[in-house]
Amino acid sequence: MTDSRKHILVTGASSGIGAAIAEQQAARGHVLSLGARRTDRLPSGERTFCHALDVTDEASVEAFLAAAVAANGPIDVLVNNAGLARGTETMADADGVAWREMIETNVMGVLHMTRRVVPSMIERRAGHVVMIGSIAGRLPYENGSVYCATKASVRVIAQSLRQELFGTNVRVTTVDPGLVETEFSLVRFRGDAEKAKVPYENTRPLHAADVADCVDFAISRPPHVNIDDLLVTTTDQVSPTRVYRG
Ligand SMILES: NC(=O)c1ccc[n+]([C@@H]2O[C@H](COP(=O)([O-])OP(=O)(O)OC[C@H]3O[C@@H](n4cnc5c(N)ncnc54)[C@H](OP(=O)(O)O)[C@@H]3O)[C@@H](O)[C@H]2O)c1
Repeated sequence: MTDSRKHILVTGASSGIGAAIAEQQAARGHVLSLGARRTDRLPSGERTFCHALDVTDEASVEAFLAAAVAANGPIDVLVNNAGLARGTETMADADGVAWREMIETNVMGVLHMTRRVVPSMIERRAGHVVMIGSIAGRLPYENGSVYCATKASVRVIAQSLRQELFGTNVRVTTVDPGLVETEFSLVRFRGDAEKAKVPYENTRPLHAADVADCVDFAISRPPHVNIDDLLVTTTDQVSPTRVYRG
């Protein structure tokens, strides 16, 4: 793949931020490999390869990566976007099922993907790993301890990985968004559309495309430039719990 046309692999591209990243990078002319569990929701396109992916399942990760490399060659950019929050129970009220789902998806999923993609990047002395973290990883809030912890983990994993990759030319970037209007809230409230609307009411959240712009900025810098991390919020938000509702 030349510098101008990259093979970009996006996890969780069936919705929200991942779908927006896919749409934007397809418009840039890059070659895409897209994965999610809901394959019927993955965006199709001329240079777009779609395949089932469950980041919590190592066999699924291996099948997806093998198929992506067979279709599009070595991976230039890995975007670890797949993730979720589940529930808003306090620690005292939680039963642990949702914790496991979040940790398996947001932390183990990132690790399952990254450890299989990075060796070829090191060998080629080129590549870029992008993590979609969250403002929640920097500023934890009540009733979200485990989601916040998973996103803090993503940030720390990226910081550590960046040091491991020192001297290899492989880049590592974390993009930490604040409130973005996607299906995130619907997933968090287990399909309850009424509850899911509340975080976005009377405010102007980010659009998925705004986060895609941040990823686009990071991956389109010259090869010697590494954007370590970006925190992006709407002007109506200054912390996870302080949102202007005009
Ligand atoms: N929206 C926000 O306010 C916000 C703020 C900060 C950070 N984020 C982060 O942004 C990322 C994208 O979320 P979003 O807002 O775009 O939410 P979304 O619309 O719900 O999209 C989440 C994506 O992750 C995929 N996914 C979930 N579990 C998966 C698994 N086990 N294997 C593969 N794919 C999986 C989903 O696909 P399938 O269900 O089809 O598998 C979907 O494509 C997440 O990491 C989230 O934590 C979101």
